[in-house]
Amino acid sequence: MCGIVGYVGSNEAADFLLEGLRRLEYRGYDSSGVVTAQDGTIDVKKTAGRVESLSQLLKTSPARGGVGIGHTRWATHGPATDENAHPHLGGDQIVALVHNGVIENYRGLKEKLLERGYEFCSDTDSEVVAHLLAYELRNLSDDVNESIDPYAPLIVAVQNMLTQLQGTYGLAMVFRDWPEVIVTARLGSPLVLGVGDGENFIASDGSPLAGRTEKIVYLADHEIAIVTADTIRVIHRDQGDVRHDIKVLDIEAADIDLGRFDHYMLKEIFEQPETVRNALRGRLDRDEATAVFGGLNLSAQQLQSVQRFVLTACGTSWHSALVGEYMIENLARIPVEVEYASELRYRNPPLSTGTLLFALTQSGETIDTLAALREMKRKGHPTMSICNVVGSTIAREADGGIYLHAGPEIGVASTKAFTAQCVVMSLLALYFGRLHHLSYEAGLHIIDDLEKLPEQVETALATHDRVRQIAEKYADRNNFLYLGRQYNFPAALEGALKLKEISYVHAEGYPAAEMKHGPIALVDEQTPSVFIVPQSAVYDKVLANLEEIKARGGPVIAVVDDEDSRVTEVADDVIVVPAVSDFLQPIVASVPLQMLAYHIALIRGCDVDKPRNLAKSVTVE
Ligand code: F6R
Repeated sequence: MCGIVGYVGSNEAADFLLEGLRRLEYRGYDSSGVVTAQDGTIDVKKTAGRVESLSQLLKTSPARGGVGIGHTRWATHGPATDENAHPHLGGDQIVALVHNGVIENYRGLKEKLLERGYEFCSDTDSEVVAHLLAYELRNLSDDVNESIDPYAPLIVAVQNMLTQLQGTYGLAMVFRDWPEVIVTARLGSPLVLGVGDGENFIASDGSPLAGRTEKIVYLADHEIAIVTADTIRVIHRDQGDVRHDIKVLDIEAADIDLGRFDHYMLKEIFEQPETVRNALRGRLDRDEATAVFGGLNLSAQQLQSVQRFVLTACGTSWHSALVGEYMIENLARIPVEVEYASELRYRNPPLSTGTLLFALTQSGETIDTLAALREMKRKGHPTMSICNVVGSTIAREADGGIYLHAGPEIGVASTKAFTAQCVVMSLLALYFGRLHHLSYEAGLHIIDDLEKLPEQVETALATHDRVRQIAEKYADRNNFLYLGRQYNFPAALEGALKLKEISYVHAEGYPAAEMKHGPIALVDEQTPSVFIVPQSAVYDKVLANLEEIKARGGPVIAVVDDEDSRVTEVADDVIVVPAVSDFLQPIVASVPLQMLAYHIALIRGCDVDKPRNLAKSVTVE
């Protein structure tokens, strides 16, 4: 959701800005823009639409200068128009800024600025921040001493401006009269700095930095950075200078290359044998028949005394939490509650001591998940993150955590992060199972199953051609049902979500047996039902549910793990995936469902990697 880039150095800033904005496209946006500072002017170029439109604009009207910032906007206040696109100018064009986040008190601030004679060109909350900054710059008190610190006016003006804002922000600002510097500030909206040689970079996540530098600084909330080509200075909004650690960027340029694939989503689907392997790497201990984690940061006694898990997440991550609920309750026999983060943050559930919170999040920046984590921390519960993005806010704020190591996920629809989260869930189930009742032998069986999983995911990918044919057959349908039971119920939910988000086709996921309590009324010849029905304890029951759909004329697509099963006789179309233990079925079954959504979306002419209205990391409530 919204992206920020910035460059200070001896090259043309616009080159990095454009490339960086392209790499941030995956976050979701509807307009873009850049500003450069040079020779006493600041030059804004912005437009509604794709970064490609901005690129065309810059060809006819270049933005020159070695200092600049850029932005992709995902509309919150006002529609996607040229005027509402960022950057926004403040005062008589003495400052320009880009902003991620939401300023909740912008109306009151705007009224005051209007009274002071400021004029607004946009509907955005961000333009209010630009004018407020210009106002603070113009009205500095006399004791701000520029001769001791040349950037003192900027710092004081930014600090004064920030203290008036309520809400969240990741801000990057350029100044007409200090054309060699960019100032950034963050509260609740991520910002990172890339440390180069005679040049420095700014971005809202690490992907624009890949291939430019391996040194990254993660800004924390309330921090302000003053960035020139040779220096980075970080100060706390209220407490003065703070030390900043330089970390190693974990993204390589190759990670964000499309390679032989047409879309990131397909590339990421096909990366899953490797990402599953990476999620398992170094985490299986055959001697103890358990899983090992480096980052839980809890004492043996604390781990032993966990009596209940709360798993919280949004969207696809919530589905992997549901898979985790089945795994942990079955294998570790510890009660689990799965909560939408957006609900948990405002609910006040009575939670006993011994409750351990896991926040599942690909991006580590989802604002609802972050808020739920903070709420649980406030109440004294230990919190863990299961996260893909190293150094992300949730990973840093949790007491401990487990990284997915899936590499950057750029397709907006989550695929490899989902399966990696499910793998981590299975490792947690094994780990906590072995702390309690699970025998050594049972632990070893689980390890055997997990070790085979990457290859089985590879085999599931071999259904690609078959899935493509099925997609061709059903791509014109406007309603789908996805049905499964037990472990495969969350897989049904996830299959339906994938189809909805990238093909804009209505799809509902249900526990198969719930059909007859209402949704069966939807069944007709035009409504395919996708059944996930591998061999399991509930096989016969799901088969009965499937027959009920067939009896009403509904076409059935079945994901099975046995070519000769009774389901294949009844279903219209069958996808055969490898047979795996029941707790791993949702991982293997999800692979063809991801491909089905992909191909249906493609046939319907949808932009698979950048579906309408969606954003990759949802940093507004
Ligand atoms: C769907 C999808 C979203 C995210 C959700 C939470 O494909 O990706 O539903 O799962 O927005 O995001 P994270 O996992 O980054 O917290």
